[in-house]
Amino acid sequence: MAKSAPSFVCQNCGAAYNKWQGKCEACGEWNTLAAEDSATAIPVSARSKRKGRTFNLESLTGTSQDAPRIPSGMGELDRVTGGGFVRGSIILIGGDPGIGKSTLLTQATSMMARAGHRVVYISGEEAVAQVRLRAARLGLADAPVQLASETSVEDIVATLSEGTVPRLIVIDSIQTMWTDTVESAPGTVTQVRASAQALIRFAKKTGATIILVGHVTKDGQIAGPRVVEHMVDAVMSFEGEGSQQFRILRAVKNRFGPTDEIGVFEMTGLGLREVSNPSELFLSDRDLGSPGTAVFGGMEGTRPVLVELQALVAPTTLGTPRRAVVGWDSSRLSMVLAVLEAHCGVKLSGYDVYFNVAGGLRINEPAADMAAAAALVSSLCNAPLPTDAVYFGEISLSGAVRPVAQTSARLKEAAKLGFGRAVLPEAARGDPGGDAGLTLNSIGNLTTLVAEIAARGVKPARDGGNTTQSDKNAPPARFRRENG
Ligand code: TYD
Ligand code: MG
Repeated sequence: MAKSAPSFVCQNCGAAYNKWQGKCEACGEWNTLAAEDSATAIPVSARSKRKGRTFNLESLTGTSQDAPRIPSGMGELDRVTGGGFVRGSIILIGGDPGIGKSTLLTQATSMMARAGHRVVYISGEEAVAQVRLRAARLGLADAPVQLASETSVEDIVATLSEGTVPRLIVIDSIQTMWTDTVESAPGTVTQVRASAQALIRFAKKTGATIILVGHVTKDGQIAGPRVVEHMVDAVMSFEGEGSQQFRILRAVKNRFGPTDEIGVFEMTGLGLREVSNPSELFLSDRDLGSPGTAVFGGMEGTRPVLVELQALVAPTTLGTPRRAVVGWDSSRLSMVLAVLEAHCGVKLSGYDVYFNVAGGLRINEPAADMAAAAALVSSLCNAPLPTDAVYFGEISLSGAVRPVAQTSARLKEAAKLGFGRAVLPEAARGDPGGDAGLTLNSIGNLTTLVAEIAARGVKPARDGGNTTQSDKNAPPARFRRENG
């Protein structure tokens, strides 16, 4: 029999090759291929040659108990999981180093243990003393969590099989785990996959919930565990800007719940604090009355979130103007700029555009178009927007403003936070939810919005002195109204 040749496995995405090469064609990363034994977990000779066992087939309408959930005791975490941990499910939580994964899970396990469940925290990275130290700092040292510092999957499964089945098991992290059944080093794709498989088998057999912590590489992908992503029931990512105190837990995949909900936390000296009203957080320290900022009335899952969008439009000296975006899709920005240029007569080719979503939030909704356009035009013509207005609406390529979902929820949130008016799509006016006491300004076409903002504009100071430069870039009539 031919000796099994080693195969070369990309440590980033798990793609396998017959021979070594510098670049992984699947994910485009360089120098990520490493030799791993292609032989699967158990040699063929060792596998028993038994016939398959027969099992009962069941009907779709049987009385199976629905997936019972156990709330973690942290509202924001439960919001993302869909109401608590499902029995026998596996959750992968990824995030940058130091973002607070261990902190979050220490808090969640402690809460559940205090509620009387058997909870086990296995750390492969930190010693028991270090985990204790963190718990003490969080004021959770008295919670009856069972701790261990272990990395062998066989030992872990053997230990956990004894006594009552734990309700929740945290494995921090999956990259440090290893199993005897494969020979590769810990952290390699083969090891991570085999270890995860063994733990998943244990969870499905016993009904325990397992949370796997996964590291993320520089480009934001969960390293190695990319291959684990489709084996688990839910994938969550814990995100945040290093310099900011906000942390956002987002479901990337969830077999038992929604994927558009976010959990918002704030990292404090005493661990993670749940933020149940994120709008207040994203609108705190607002720069009131300066041009280039607009408040977007957004939705994250079922929850309305108001957030400030900031734009800076400045004359450029470059042949190709800069377009820099943080927190929003850059192609979405290009689209809004193109619509402004083509249909509203706003000439932006001579300007650099910088765009930022305050507070480190990432917006995925098309409804942000109108708020973005308002911020851009406000900055360009140095016209501060009313401080008590929220904006939402999708912009189509023709310049028309399209209605968005859940208008009344957005309006209610704005009213709750003291806003007085809303700039929204025309078609949404007939929404049965009412206006929540806000003055509504419905916009049918982006041209109307641009004209309204431009009318508020003050003559930009920068056009005053240096006439040669600005005259060259700015068209004589910056807001040409086409077709009247
Ligand atoms: P940690 O949970 O260890 O991160 P991860 O497991 O994702 O690598 O969190 C580490 C960071 O959190 C560290 O920079 C310090 C900060 N931190 C606080 O600010 N307050 C706290 O109470 C704790 C425990 C951590
Ligand atoms: Mg950690």
